[in-house]
Amino acid sequence: MAKIKLIEFKKIPSTNDYLKENYEKLPSFTFIRTDYQTKGRGQFERKWLSANAKNLLLSFMLKDIQMDQIIIIKEWVKSAIFSTLGSLGMDVYFKEPNDVYVNDKKLCGILMETKGSGNKFDYVIIGIGLNVNQIIFQNFKATSIFLETKKVQNVSGIMSKLITNLLESYF
Ligand code: BTN
Repeated sequence: MAKIKLIEFKKIPSTNDYLKENYEKLPSFTFIRTDYQTKGRGQFERKWLSANAKNLLLSFMLKDIQMDQIIIIKEWVKSAIFSTLGSLGMDVYFKEPNDVYVNDKKLCGILMETKGSGNKFDYVIIGIGLNVNQIIFQNFKATSIFLETKKVQNVSGIMSKLITNLLESYF
């Protein structure tokens, strides 16, 4: 099983940006988690807003990846998220390009970013924003595990489950 490195922060601009800025000195399978992001980013240059210490804000990096593996990576991440949420009794589904929905509301977004040359990516960074305990959202089409299940979850516990699912199913 792959060896991981986990770095956690109280507050940083963005976990994806941290990996982008530091990728040269960090190994493959470095995970970054923070309680709060001041410049959280979503797909299509959107902002990713998340209440302090309520949700999972996690990014991880794979290095030296063949470009044609990107589809497998996306499926792998998706299925690890599905298993994690399934173990909480949630019936989630995927919406292209990279969203996880439940009951017609967005629960989780994935932001994949790459840097490449030739047929290889120097890195693939996968950012996951999973709404865990947040109750109020500006966007009425968003939801959280708590709102759907009425159970508060430990954010680090959810992260551990997700990382375990990722490592156990690594292709
Ligand atoms: C989306 O649905 O638009 C993707 C959202 C991805 C948000 C996560 S939160 C952790 C990581 N850091 C970021 O700045 N964005 C991703």
